[in-house]
Amino acid sequence: MTTTAPTTPVLTPEMVAAIQDLFHRYPTRQAITLPALHMVNAKLRHVPMAAIPEIAKLLELSPAQIYDTLSFYGFFKSEQGGYVRAWVCRSISCALRGAEEVLEKMCDKLHVHPGGTTEDGKITLEFGECLGLCDFAPAVLANEQVYKSVSLDQVDEICAMLKSQADAQANGTAIPTL
Ligand code: FES
Repeated sequence: MTTTAPTTPVLTPEMVAAIQDLFHRYPTRQAITLPALHMVNAKLRHVPMAAIPEIAKLLELSPAQIYDTLSFYGFFKSEQGGYVRAWVCRSISCALRGAEEVLEKMCDKLHVHPGGTTEDGKITLEFGECLGLCDFAPAVLANEQVYKSVSLDQVDEICAMLKSQADAQANGTAIPTL
């Protein structure tokens, strides 16, 4: 007889409780899928594939239903990202006002490729689509902070801020803002 070692659940008891807290706020368990994925992503900085059956069981849905939602949104990654996740908008207004150059300079400064995470695992830098800040192109979003009308001259300062914020999050200290 072969036995398989028990695996450690991906969802912590706190995550399970937080998802269960949503039950009374949504009309169906299916409607909780997206907020549950966001919750897991916020805690783990990604949504591991192993979390899918656990979320499915909790919501009384099939793993395929969870995966459908997960894979629909490019926002969710299966690999862990940085403490700070930054997006440089590449949609038309920002593209016309130098977003690509901003991204290139940020990549140089952080030693990372677009879509990649810094070697220390602290900052993920990506292209993003319209952030709704077209009047302030080019725009950058980093976690919940926006940077408007970003010039190449500001890139050093922004990257330094991203590093400070990532360090603060990694160390559990107060997060600095510009
Ligand atoms: S095009 Fe960049 S914010 Fe809208």
